[in-house]
Amino acid sequence: MTAQAALDLALRPLLPTDVPLLAQIYRASIEELTADDYSQEQQEAWASAADDEDAFGKRLADRLTIVATLDGTPIGFATLADGREIDMLFVHPEVAGRGAGTMLCDALEKLAKARGATRVTTDASDTALSFFERRNYVAQQRNAVLFGGQWMAHTTMHKQLTGEGPK
Ligand SMILES: CC(C)(COP(=O)(O)OP(=O)(O)OC[C@H]1O[C@@H](n2cnc3c(N)ncnc32)[C@H](O)[C@@H]1OP(=O)(O)O)[C@@H](O)C(=O)NCCC(=O)NCCS
Repeated sequence: MTAQAALDLALRPLLPTDVPLLAQIYRASIEELTADDYSQEQQEAWASAADDEDAFGKRLADRLTIVATLDGTPIGFATLADGREIDMLFVHPEVAGRGAGTMLCDALEKLAKARGATRVTTDASDTALSFFERRNYVAQQRNAVLFGGQWMAHTTMHKQLTGEGPK
C-alpha cells in the first residue's frame, strides 16, 4: 500500500446516484479478481446479479451500504444485512490491495457492534477466504449454492465482536 493511496481513501454512505458505478465495480471485481477460484461460467452467473441495475440498487438500499472512495470517486463498497451479516464486499481490481477492503470491513464491524451485534457473519467467496481469516473470522461451514444456474462454493464464517471488539 502506498502512503498516498492510504491518505486519499475515504468512506461515505451510499448515494442513489452511485448504483451504476457500483454495479461496474461489482462486475470488474468478479471478472478480474476471482478467476483463480471460479470458472468463467460461475463468474458470469455471479456478475449477472448487477445486470438489472434497479434490482441491484434495491439490494444496496435495503442494506446498510458504505462506499469507499479514492480522490472522491467510488472504488469499492460493502453491505451489512440484518445488522450483523457482511453481505457484499467488492473492491475495484485497479485498487485492490491498497486497504479499501480493510477500511470497509472495519467500518461494518464497528457499525454492527454499535447496533448491538456480538458477532458478525459472512458467506466468504473462496477469493476472500484468506482476507477474512486474517481478520480473525472463523470458518463454520462450507456451502454450495445455486447462483444464476451455476453451483458456487463459499464458506460461512463468523467473528466475535465481544472483548476488545473489531480492530
Ligand atoms: C476481498 C477483497 C474485498 C479485498 O479487498 P482489498 O481492498 O484488496 O483488501 P485490502 O487491501 O484491505 O487487503 C488487506 C489484506 O488482505 C490481503 N488480501 C486482500 N485480498 C486477498 C486475497 N484475495 N487473498 C489473500 N489475501 C488478500 C492483502 O494482501 C492485505 O494484506 P496486508 O495487510 O498484509 O497488506 C477484494 O480482493 C475483492 O473485491 N475480491 C473479489 C470479490 C470478492 O470475492 N468479494 C468478497 C465476497 S464475500
